[in-house]
Amino acid sequence: MKVGIARECREGERRVAATPETVKQLAGLGLDVLVESGAGAPAGHGDDEYRAAGARIVPKLDLANLDVFAHVRPLDPATAAALHRGAVTVGLAAPSSELPTVSALAEAGVTSFALELVPRISRAQSMDALTSQALVAGYRCVLEAAIRLPRFFPLYMTAAGTIPPARVLVLGVGVAGLQAIGTAKRLGARVSANDIRPASAEEVASMGGTFIRLDLETAEASGGYARELTADRGALQRRLLAPHVAQADVLITTAAVPGRRAPLLVTRDMVQGMRPGSVVVDLAAESGGNVEGSVPGMDLHVPTADGQGSVTLVGLKDAASAMPADASRLYAKNVANLLALMTRKGVVAPDFDDEVVAETCLTHDGAVRHAATAEALAALRDRPGAPGAATPGPEAPITPESENEGVV
Ligand code: NAI
Repeated sequence: MKVGIARECREGERRVAATPETVKQLAGLGLDVLVESGAGAPAGHGDDEYRAAGARIVPKLDLANLDVFAHVRPLDPATAAALHRGAVTVGLAAPSSELPTVSALAEAGVTSFALELVPRISRAQSMDALTSQALVAGYRCVLEAAIRLPRFFPLYMTAAGTIPPARVLVLGVGVAGLQAIGTAKRLGARVSANDIRPASAEEVASMGGTFIRLDLETAEASGGYARELTADRGALQRRLLAPHVAQADVLITTAAVPGRRAPLLVTRDMVQGMRPGSVVVDLAAESGGNVEGSVPGMDLHVPTADGQGSVTLVGLKDAASAMPADASRLYAKNVANLLALMTRKGVVAPDFDDEVVAETCLTHDGAVRHAATAEALAALRDRPGAPGAATPGPEAPITPESENEGVV
């Protein structure tokens, strides 16, 4: 069976869905791997490396002739439509936001697997791309903060005086938040953190951070995920967090609730209450933002309330793509491990009796198998003006995409 690895074409994307190491793994399963020329270059892998690992290099993938298509970013509807009936796709699919592509995949009869849907059970950990990419993003956001902070992270005791460690506050302690805590600790900062899941207190302590207990009930849903707070509880949380935010030199926010816009944890007033020179990195900027006013891909300079300077507010974008070598190394292993689970004697044949396969499958045989996505599509079709709906609506708002600096 032919497995295609594309050169990712979305702006800012530098990862690749297979590395020479995983090409060997896939070839060992009896699969014929075709890599688009230059696909691995941004992640540091040249065509020759892929060739040596057993891949064939092609100038352009012939989508209609692929049995399996592995990708990083969600496909566009035209690509989905070009695949043949029964073809298998594996990659990030952003099912809740890329509904037109989901429709196109179903219409084309493609069996698509969305890595976001990999169940969070121990057997599936090696296929869990949300975890592997959150690890990269969590690390990266600390470095982004450190480079912008006009002071050290660690404590220094020198003949010229003592420099106290930077105070780092992490809000949202899932995979990315824990990695941010670990990275900030390794850099020598004094780290505190908050999350609304009860288990997070112990996790923060295990990484050497101090958990901030708020007088707020916990909000845990199934699968270890957070529940969305009510508007009142959200406002209370922001009020309780305000003094902690004001004390921080660096604030890193990573809070998310699956299928929802990122919760607003920090208002503009809270940012303005920080000391001049402080840095805020909002990892959730692309999904609505944990910090009021953050813009993905932009540094904003928010004047402090004391009028003495500004706070740098970084809206992080493509955080995992910014470290394409290791992000791809982990991502490609996730893809290859899922394919290995479905491959017998050189044939990729998903067994839907396997819960990992069944839960990760987004579309199959003309149907959308993931219930929440199927419901969202049905709702979209019924809503006038939405993409894919019968009646057109107002134009979508333009979202800033530039990496420019701005002043607010
Ligand atoms: P996520 O990306 O969905 O959310 C990030 C964090 O934001 C979560 O810890 C969440 O509790 C927190 N959050 C949401 N609303 C908040 C608010 N208002 N204030 C403060 N924090 C808020 O989370 P991620 O990283 O995907 O992890 C979710 C869960 O899955 C965790 O319990 C994690 O331990 C678990 N997990 C399990 C795995 C496995 O068993 N294979 C693998 C990876 C994660």
